[in-house]
Amino acid sequence: MFYGIVSSMTQDKEIQAFQAQIWAFYEHSGRHNLPWRKTKNAYKILVSEVMLQQTQVSRVLEKYPEFLREFPTIRALAEAPLTHVLTVWQGMGYNRRALALKRLAGEVTVKHNGKIPRRRDELEALPGIGAYTAGAIRAFAFNEPEVFIETNIRRIFLHHFFKDKQGIHDKEIIPLVESTLNHERPREWYWALMDYGAHLPKTATNSNIKSRHYVKQKPFEGSHRQVRGKVLKFLTTKGKCTTAACARSLELTPEKTKEVLNELVHEGFAILNRQTYAIRH
Ligand code: ADE
Repeated sequence: MFYGIVSSMTQDKEIQAFQAQIWAFYEHSGRHNLPWRKTKNAYKILVSEVMLQQTQVSRVLEKYPEFLREFPTIRALAEAPLTHVLTVWQGMGYNRRALALKRLAGEVTVKHNGKIPRRRDELEALPGIGAYTAGAIRAFAFNEPEVFIETNIRRIFLHHFFKDKQGIHDKEIIPLVESTLNHERPREWYWALMDYGAHLPKTATNSNIKSRHYVKQKPFEGSHRQVRGKVLKFLTTKGKCTTAACARSLELTPEKTKEVLNELVHEGFAILNRQTYAIRH
């Protein structure tokens, strides 16, 4: 009993020290000018979170204003042709996100009268929105004291609370995210956490390697994903093409080209009609 009180006091102290360190870092070195932090518009915040999922901040900073200029509202995105959305998305990679965003815009327009929902279950039911993105939208758009975890956040907690341990499961980290969360200012707290996490070293001693959830990125050059990107770009530019024409232009084998084109049909990017592939409307 006595030991329980002592250890919970120690824990409180540790938590307070951790919070103080994060806030101090944020005050001095926070990225206060990121454009998605200057809006409370849930659509604009959602677009930024989807972009930031798999693309570096510097690249998103270039693309984000252009995307919002072209599609300033969720309705504008819902009504835009998919070719236009894919064209604007070019350079971001992972094109499935663009397709999912366009579908999400359609669903929100129809099911939620054009308003991004606030509830976690409704957010997670939308295309392209997983547990992390739903949590991020709730915190950043609605200032809800939501508990969520992503690469940067995981890195911080591993670094601080699991210094010499390996194979840490997110289940062990979540209670710490919860007990350190600031309930008055969840929006700012998560901004601060993300900035602190982004500054921690990502080298060989990367503390994320200690996590069970660590996934090493595969090389892009020569990958299936790279070929996919090229074929989709070609099809987006041309509007439509046959397997032979696409293979010739991209110097690919007809077999590989057909495989990738069929994959694009399967995923909902394109349709096949009389041996001609075209981007969906
Ligand atoms: N600010 C808000 N969301 C962010 C994110 N996902 N990455 C970096 N900064 C952010």
